[in-house]
Amino acid sequence: MTVDAFRTKPSRLKRPSISPLRYPGGKASLYTRLRALLRYNGLTSGTYVEPYAGGAGAALGLLVTGQVKEVAINDLDPAIFAFWKSLIDSPSDFSQLIREARLSVDEWQKQRDAYLNAPRDDYLRLGFATFYLNRTNRSGVLNGGPIGGMDQTGNYKIDARFNKDGLTERVRLIGMYGKRISVHNMDGIALINQYADSPNTLIYADPPYFEKAGSLYLNSFTSGDHEALAACLNGLNDRRWLLTYDNVPQVAQLYGERRSEEFSLNYSAHRVMKAKEIMVYSDALVTDEERLL
Ligand SMILES: C[S@@+](CC[C@H](N)C(=O)[O-])C[C@H]1O[C@@H](n2cnc3c(N)ncnc32)[C@H](O)[C@@H]1O
Repeated sequence: MTVDAFRTKPSRLKRPSISPLRYPGGKASLYTRLRALLRYNGLTSGTYVEPYAGGAGAALGLLVTGQVKEVAINDLDPAIFAFWKSLIDSPSDFSQLIREARLSVDEWQKQRDAYLNAPRDDYLRLGFATFYLNRTNRSGVLNGGPIGGMDQTGNYKIDARFNKDGLTERVRLIGMYGKRISVHNMDGIALINQYADSPNTLIYADPPYFEKAGSLYLNSFTSGDHEALAACLNGLNDRRWLLTYDNVPQVAQLYGERRSEEFSLNYSAHRVMKAKEIMVYSDALVTDEERLL
């Protein structure tokens, strides 16, 4: 079955945009689908887990709209982890850094240096540098260049995506929910195993894709890693999880026994285009209302 971004009739729910990170290919637009899955499975007082969180757009949307009680966010990338850790541990300091940030190529170079060289456990420095680059670089790509170019001659300038009021508001909101957000920095499979036996839990895995991840984010996934993830998830088929991938033949090979459906989401790394993706479900997950009747 092909579904366009899981349009849920009759009303299309507006999804909240809360993540301060710009994430190419981010899954915040799956909010409506995830919200429905949480309801069909009686998990609205439960925990929602993202082992490959990135911008965690869907997780935050579900938390602040009360669809779940707690979320767990995990990313193996130390810079992405430092961002979430510093934001949750010290939202006021983080907001102050946003308010005081200079938006210039000189400052961009300093933040880039911190991103590359700051101690990995200096969470506020590394986390803010990661955020700064994500907001000032083209398409949010961390190892890319600044919007407008180094000479700032482009139509859009380095400050085009750095609305201080909007961003500090997002940080304030997330800070209010800090006690209900746990942040982890481990391999995704380790986190899945950690939460596999927790009651009332939905795990949503959005691992690096087979083909189109490119340089958008840390992508050290080998074919062995894809296989290990499949062995882990297929072995937890009696728990409630879902998975999204690019729609390539390897997914059908690894998850051929599971239910799956194709979907599209608007994907804008360098230009807007329709991306064909696939969603895979564990057998234990109720995926539509009818099965409850
Ligand atoms: C496809 S992105 C996730 C996008 C995210 N769902 C969103 O909506 O923004 C994959 C993420 O997995 C992280 N990652 C890569 N390898 C990992 C691993 N072995 N364990 C955990 N996270 C990993 C990357 O740093 C990246 O942020």
